Amino acid sequence: MQKPSKPVSQSKTTITELMIPSYANFGGKIHGGILLSLMDKVAYACSSKHAGAYCVTVSVERVEFLQPVEVGELVSLHASVNYVGRSSLIVGIRVEALNVKTGHVNHTNSSYFTMVAKGDDDKPCTVPRLILENKEEVKRFIEAMHMKEIRIKVKEEMDDVRSQIAVEKASELLKGERCIIRL
Ligand SMILES: CC(C)(COP(=O)(O)OP(=O)(O)OC[C@H]1O[C@@H](n2cnc3c(N)ncnc32)[C@H](O)[C@@H]1OP(=O)(O)O)[C@@H](O)C(=O)NCCC(=O)NCCS
Repeated sequence: MQKPSKPVSQSKTTITELMIPSYANFGGKIHGGILLSLMDKVAYACSSKHAGAYCVTVSVERVEFLQPVEVGELVSLHASVNYVGRSSLIVGIRVEALNVKTGHVNHTNSSYFTMVAKGDDDKPCTVPRLILENKEEVKRFIEAMHMKEIRIKVKEEMDDVRSQIAVEKASELLKGERCIIRL
């Protein structure tokens, strides 16, 4: 039986968390891993709400930390389903850090998590179709479709590159690179 379609708005999710000192690295800024873990949580919450099933993280696109996050800032992670396939969903996540004293909000990064919904048999299950209710949602769906195509192409190209690497020609290939070969 096909699950009823759902609008993007129904699964939009935000998690807000205070950046406490134990989250910091030796430089006093927040560990990237803390943010990745929060992003994974919000992607899970958002995708599972849409799917009506447990979801697993399959791949992550574009993780770039554009600005450091400071201890004491309130980090909000805004997630929405940008795209659905049969069992996969692409969740867009926007991370913002609020300095509570100044009110300044930094957009620290945007990332895309591909999640797959699983049924009780632990196999991928069909997710509801996505209802797009404004131009921005249509744009994000199309962008995500392209992102998926590009990811597949990059994987194929990298497989090709990997299979053609000739270690014997490394000294020629690596001329000018900042490495020393000591085989
Ligand atoms: C993801 C997983 C379910 C795919 O299983 P599979 O038997 O290959 O299933 P399928 O080939 O039918 O793929 C299912 C969906 O995953 C998508 N998918 C598979 N590999 C993918 C990848 N590397 N990146 C993005 N999507 C991927 C497929 O495109 C498909 O999407 P669709 O149903 O919307 O068309 C399986 O590899 C898995 O369970 N991985 C572990 C995930 C996990 O536990 N994550 C937590 C981190 S420990």
